[in-house]
Amino acid sequence: MPRSAEHICEFAGGLSESAGPLQTADAQAAAADERASANGNGAGPASAVAERPRTPAEERQGFPSISGSGGVDEYEGIQMQASQRTSGLLVRVRNMVKHFNTSKGVFKAVQGVDVDIEPSSICALLGPSGSGKTTLLRLIAGLEGVTDGRIYFDDLDATDLAVQDRQVGMVFQSYALFNHKTVAENVMFGLEVRKLDVDRRKRVEDLLELVQLTGLGDRYPRQLSGGQRQRVALARALASNPKLLLLDEPFGALDAVVRKQLRAGLKEIVQTVGVTTIIVTHDQEEAFDLADKVVIFNRGFIEQIGSPTEIIRRPATPFVMKFVGDTNDVPAASLLVRRSRFLTSKSRVMFRPSDIQLFTEFVESVDGHLVTGATVSERANLGWTVRYTLRFDDDVEVEYSVTREQADGRLGLDIGQRIYLYVKPEAMMGFEPEDIDSAPIL
Ligand SMILES: Nc1ncnc2c1ncn2[C@@H]1O[C@H](COP(=O)(O)OP(=O)(O)OP(=O)(O)O)[C@@H](O)[C@H]1O
Ligand SMILES: [Mg+2]
Repeated sequence: MPRSAEHICEFAGGLSESAGPLQTADAQAAAADERASANGNGAGPASAVAERPRTPAEERQGFPSISGSGGVDEYEGIQMQASQRTSGLLVRVRNMVKHFNTSKGVFKAVQGVDVDIEPSSICALLGPSGSGKTTLLRLIAGLEGVTDGRIYFDDLDATDLAVQDRQVGMVFQSYALFNHKTVAENVMFGLEVRKLDVDRRKRVEDLLELVQLTGLGDRYPRQLSGGQRQRVALARALASNPKLLLLDEPFGALDAVVRKQLRAGLKEIVQTVGVTTIIVTHDQEEAFDLADKVVIFNRGFIEQIGSPTEIIRRPATPFVMKFVGDTNDVPAASLLVRRSRFLTSKSRVMFRPSDIQLFTEFVESVDGHLVTGATVSERANLGWTVRYTLRFDDDVEVEYSVTREQADGRLGLDIGQRIYLYVKPEAMMGFEPEDIDSAPIL
């Protein structure tokens, strides 16, 4: 079984997971800070990492043993060139189930999840709040024990591997740096976890260069911007040359501009180092921009796994369709659906506003499909876009957006104006309201 959470936080470089679920992220960071202070110096809790012989499976996989004696591993350096990159882990999650016992009964947070994450790739976990993303990440890290299912790192069954033996680096939403330590000492802490026999100063310099913080090693966290602090956390997570990097909303506390900058930096760093990376995010743009593979979660299940393009172009389920872009949703019996000749056994139909073809002059049909008349009922100015509400003769309404420039020009519409719409049936998807429900399952 995985070690205690206390141990884990130490391995994760001072990210205090042990402070308990009711504490805020800041409180957890403070708790981590306090524990480190109590240890009296920079070496701190890392010295608690236990000595343990390697299992035969680990020997085969080349997993290093963790030893308090130091000098076991050679200096691995920061792999700056593609040809020397670390080969990240192949992560395979099989039939993963996690139930929590609560006062109201069993809560099914993860309900049979299968996913493969290729070596050195970036995988994004995306989904509504409470859908099980963090829980899956914690299961992979070993911070939670599984209810059922297995986790494999390459060919090694890692399900019951102790956290500190998983070669995992972690960054969480809160910066969770040690406030009483300098930037360099914070990064060095990550290094101490594995007791690598290395030129530590050089190593820290390399890491700071990697995250573009060269020269800031002597500063304290309070003297850094939020984005810089998060980069220190990343450097610390990478210090022990992990084969797997787990990021839970790493940029969650930052504003949009800084997020974008860090995102570009993260992609480059991950590609440079070659570490397999799993990132949990609420931000769809971030997920689609960063990831090779996106996993869409809902209520503890996976709705779809695919490349960003596949998910956007070919949403597999009504939930994904609704979750990853704007949709209009109308009754299946509405005039528009019937005239488009879209056949479905479901009660409702959705389609993207961008799939609306709109004509200001009367046309009978497009590609043999009848066009449906409607009236412009509302106009909302939303900064760079203008959103029109269009009402069909059966009182069903849909939304249609154009850029401000288009609205001011040829595509501008007037309230009360008669227009004609066509949505091709291939762009429509039938669904029932429960298909798009995201309430967690008790
Ligand atoms: N220790 C626990 N005990 C009971 N329930 C838990 C526990 N940890 C998580 N849960 C529940 O499991 C569900 C999934 O939680 P999880 O943290 O994985 O969600 P998430 O997808 O990461 O959400 P968010 O986007 O809000 O971070 C939630 O409903 C949560 O309340
Ligand atoms: Mg979460």
